[in-house]
Amino acid sequence: MPLDLFLKSLNDPLGPHESRQARLYGLLKEAILSGRLAPGARLPGTRQLAADYRMARNCALFAYQQLLAEGFLQADRGGTRVGALPLSASAGSSPAKVPGGPCLSLRARQLPPSISGENYLPFAPGVPDLNAFPWRAWSRALQRAWNEVSARQVAYAEPGGEPELRRAVATFLSARRGVACTHEQVFIFPGAQAALDACARLLADSGDTVWLEEPCYTAARNAMLAAGLTTVAVAVDRDGMAPDEMLWAASPPRLIYVTPSHQYPLGSVLSLERRLDLLNRIGGGWLIEDDYDSDFNHARPGAPLPAIQGLRPDAPVIYVGTFSKLLYPGLRIAYMVVPRWAVKDIGEAVRNLYRGGQAVEQRALARFLDGGQLTRHIRSMAPIYRERQSVLRAELRARFGDGGEILGGQAGLHLVLRLPGGLPDTAFAEAALRRGVVVRALSSYYSQGGGGNGLVLGYGMAEAKQIPGLVARAFSRS
Ligand SMILES: Cc1ncc(COP(=O)(O)O)c(C=O)c1O
Repeated sequence: MPLDLFLKSLNDPLGPHESRQARLYGLLKEAILSGRLAPGARLPGTRQLAADYRMARNCALFAYQQLLAEGFLQADRGGTRVGALPLSASAGSSPAKVPGGPCLSLRARQLPPSISGENYLPFAPGVPDLNAFPWRAWSRALQRAWNEVSARQVAYAEPGGEPELRRAVATFLSARRGVACTHEQVFIFPGAQAALDACARLLADSGDTVWLEEPCYTAARNAMLAAGLTTVAVAVDRDGMAPDEMLWAASPPRLIYVTPSHQYPLGSVLSLERRLDLLNRIGGGWLIEDDYDSDFNHARPGAPLPAIQGLRPDAPVIYVGTFSKLLYPGLRIAYMVVPRWAVKDIGEAVRNLYRGGQAVEQRALARFLDGGQLTRHIRSMAPIYRERQSVLRAELRARFGDGGEILGGQAGLHLVLRLPGGLPDTAFAEAALRRGVVVRALSSYYSQGGGGNGLVLGYGMAEAKQIPGLVARAFSRS
C-alpha cells in the first residue's frame, strides 16, 4: 500500500503543541495498529522520506527511532520494516470492538445515580454561601503556607493528615461539638465521602450488613454498596433513625450510618434515648456518625449539638465531619475521629491503602482554625442563614399553604417541603432546573421508589432578598 495513503495529512497545519515529527510518528503508529501497514512491509529510508515529504531528516529519524524503540518497526540490513505485532495489539481492519462482558463490576453497575450537579445554583442543598467566604483571609493563609513550603510538604503527605491540622481539628471539635479526642484519633481525608468509603472498606467485609437511614444521603449509600455491603433501610421519624426490635433480631448490623445532629435530608435530630440505645446495642459493630452541618444550630444559636461520640468516647463510634459546609466543597478536606483503642489498627490500614496530599492546604487550614478565623466566619454566617431559612419558610407557606408540610430546619442549610398530591417531585425538580434553580426531589433519596414526594431546598446559595423571586421562579407554571 503506498505510504501516501497514511501520510496524507503529514503536511497539514500543525496544532499549537504539535511537531512534525510527532505527527509522522502518530500517523505511522496508527497505520500499523490498524493493520493497514502490514507486518513485514518495508518503509523508505529516513533520507528518502524526508525528501518526499519536504521535511527535515531529523524529524523522520526521531519518528523511526521512537517506533523502533516501541517495537512497531524493526531494522535489518535491508532497511526498516513493520514489526510483527502480537494479535491482541493489532485491531486488524475491523472497527474497534468492545471486549466481551460489561466494563464495570456488578457492584458498580448497580449503583443508583448519586444526586448532584449544578450545585452552585440557588437552592442546591448542602452548599454554603460560596460568595460570602472570607477569600482574602483564606488566600493569605494559603500564601503563607506556600511561602514556607519545603520538599516534605509537596511529597506524599502523612496519610492521616498533617499533625498541625489533626491537632487543630481535635481542639475545634472538643470546643464546638463535645467530641472527646486527642489529635492521634483524628484522620484527615479528602472529603467526608472518602472517609465514608474508607469506613465501608476498612471496617466491614463484603456481604456484611449496614443500616442506613431511609431516606439517606445517597453518596453514603453508594459507598456502602460499592464495598459490597448489604444495605438495610431503616425508617426515620421525627426523632431520627427508628429501628424496631424485629430489625435488631433479624439483621444485626456490622455498620450503622446515621446523621444524628441533622438527619439528611429530613432534618430530624436523633433523640438522646435513641442515641444511647444505639450505643448500648451496637455490640461488635460500628456506629458511623456523620456530623456534616451541625455548626449552624438554628434551634439554639451558638451551641452546636453535642456529638454521640462525646457521650461515650470509647464506644465503637467513627465520627465523620467535613469542611465542605464551613469553607467550600472543592477544598476536599474532611476528617474522621476513631476511638483511642482503634488508632493503631485504623492508622495502619489507612497507611496501607492511601497516599496523603494537600499538606499546604492542610497547614493553611490549621492556622485558620487556630487563629479563630473559621469560628468567626461561622458566627457571622449563622444569623444570615437563619434569616434565609425564615424567609424561605414564609415563601413556601405562602405558596403551598397547609398542603405543603415543611420539615427540618433546626440546623444546617436546607429545608424539606413535602408536596401535596399531584405532580411528582421529579417533575418539579426538572422544571425548576430549566429555570436555573436546583431543588432536589425527595423521592430520589429513598432506596425504594415512591418513598416520599417532596423537595429538598438549600438556602446556602440564596440571599434572603432573592428568595421570594427564586421561589416564584422555581414554581412558576409558565
Ligand atoms: C450527609 C452528608 N454527609 C457528607 C457530605 C459530604 O461531605 P464532603 O463534601 O466532605 O464529601 C454531604 C454533602 O452534601 C452530606 O450531605
